[in-house]
Amino acid sequence: MALETDFIVIGSGVAGLRASIELATNGARVTVLTKDKASESNTEYAQGGVAVVLSEDDTADLHEGDTLVAGAGLCDEQAVETLVTEGTKYIKQLIDWGTEFDREGGELLMGQEAAHSRRRILHAHGDSTGAEFVRSLIARARIEKTINLTPFANTESLIVRDGRCVGVRFLDPVLRAPREIYAKAVIMCTGGAGQLYLHTTNPSVATGDGMAMAYFAGAEMADMEFVQFHPTALNLENAPRFLLTEAMRGEGGQLKNKYGERFMGRYDERLELAPRDIVSRSIVAEMRRTGTRSVYLDMTAHDEDFLKHRFPKIYEVCNSYGLNIAKDQLPVSPASHYCMGGIRTDLHGRSTLPGLYAAGEVTCTGVHGANRLASNSLLEGLVFGARAGAAAAEDGSKFQVPCSKAEAESPETWKMEPGTTLSTAVKKRVKRVMWERVGILRDKDGLVRALKEFDQIASGNLSTSSRNFVTLAKLVAAGALWREESRGGHYRTDFTQTEDAFKLHSVQRSGKEISSALKISG
Ligand code: FAD
Ligand code: SIN
Repeated sequence: MALETDFIVIGSGVAGLRASIELATNGARVTVLTKDKASESNTEYAQGGVAVVLSEDDTADLHEGDTLVAGAGLCDEQAVETLVTEGTKYIKQLIDWGTEFDREGGELLMGQEAAHSRRRILHAHGDSTGAEFVRSLIARARIEKTINLTPFANTESLIVRDGRCVGVRFLDPVLRAPREIYAKAVIMCTGGAGQLYLHTTNPSVATGDGMAMAYFAGAEMADMEFVQFHPTALNLENAPRFLLTEAMRGEGGQLKNKYGERFMGRYDERLELAPRDIVSRSIVAEMRRTGTRSVYLDMTAHDEDFLKHRFPKIYEVCNSYGLNIAKDQLPVSPASHYCMGGIRTDLHGRSTLPGLYAAGEVTCTGVHGANRLASNSLLEGLVFGARAGAAAAEDGSKFQVPCSKAEAESPETWKMEPGTTLSTAVKKRVKRVMWERVGILRDKDGLVRALKEFDQIASGNLSTSSRNFVTLAKLVAAGALWREESRGGHYRTDFTQTEDAFKLHSVQRSGKEISSALKISG
């Protein structure tokens, strides 16, 4: 039997939790469906911190300016202004709700990260900021009696009726069977898609399901080609790539090649604190030049006590691999980290499909443009999670929960057999092609070949999850092929310049040719 609720939130990272709290404080019944245990998300693993204007020498204008520079001409200024001005309010609220940021003598400690003109990064337990967000937001959500959080509930497709999103199909963790749930609106907060790539800092839940679900349901997707690669993921044989936060370079960490030479000066005068895309490409160039598969992060200028206190999680994880961060050179290489593109939304989380809202990494709000400024995404999840929740509550007051028995229609996915898993073979093949042909350096030939391979994979008899995954890969590759320039996180070796003609957002919609838009919202 189908279920009914007022609002469905998919995902329990910062965006999903914040949206749920907003909806519940408006008195609504909120069902949160999340794929794994409640805490499992990109949010949980965020290390460096959250950027926010709180210190006396900082202003919203400065934070906005840094964000616009990182976004390489594609940020939506109104979206950035909303982020940096409302961000301060929402962080203060988070502190009121019990989030413990690191302090010294009662004063909040502000860290430095690349491309920020001020020290404005709040962090928690040194390098476990995201886990502290999740802890405090789950505790706050538990106070709201109308929030029903269902873990291990993988959603696979949206239900669309008369052009409006009215519900979700998910795998009921108790019945172990596909089930439908109906609501006035759905808020998609499923995070990013780092798992599309062979090497990633993202946990296994980050397969971009929400983007694919929204696409199949008819929503517009924007700027899918912009993927951020983090320069410094620990690169050890047979171990998952573990992030070594940018804050380590903010504290003076140096990048060295296999000869022990500090090499960033060869590529950019800002050295280790150049923007992420530049540091990532510089590392690739240096690895090619020296014939190696990694470079080294050197933190040995600091004493062990300082590092143990400032980066306790990293100290512990590296130690478990036999590395002492105060004494050893740490092998690192770039890995996929963040998706700037996603479901196109307005400044209130409304997608182009009525009834479907979205917030967090799954979206393209125009906040990040072609490249995200470090530590802006936890802030985005808070601000736009709250805004999407508020807008859904306000718009939803005009609707009844639709009757669950009437026939529903969801383009393309409705006719598919509900599959339960993402096939390991499909995942492996897509990840390798994405890494080799749709990665840090791209060109026409590689992208065309990647798209052919994805078409071939998609022509097989796939489960819904596998189809979602390969479709998403196609969207990234198609966007990358369309964008004949280099900008922000997107680098084409055959079009190395940034072109005014491409100061546009790519827009993809099911059944339509790729098109472009001057602005994300409006
Ligand atoms: P997520 O936190 O990823 O949450 C997505 C949720 O959706 C999860 O609960 C997931 O299980 C669920 N989900 C996914 N698919 C489905 C499905 N099919 N059905 C049901 N549920 C589903 N950003 C910063 O600002 N500062 C940092 O210091 C920082 N460090 C980072 C470090 C690492 C290692 C990583 C990976 C990212 C980091 N980021 C950082 C980025 C930031 O963490 C994320 O962009 C942000 O947390 C995304 O929040 P979200 O709520 O949109 O998505
Ligand atoms: C990091 O700590 O280096 C990641 C910060 C981010 O992705 O914003």
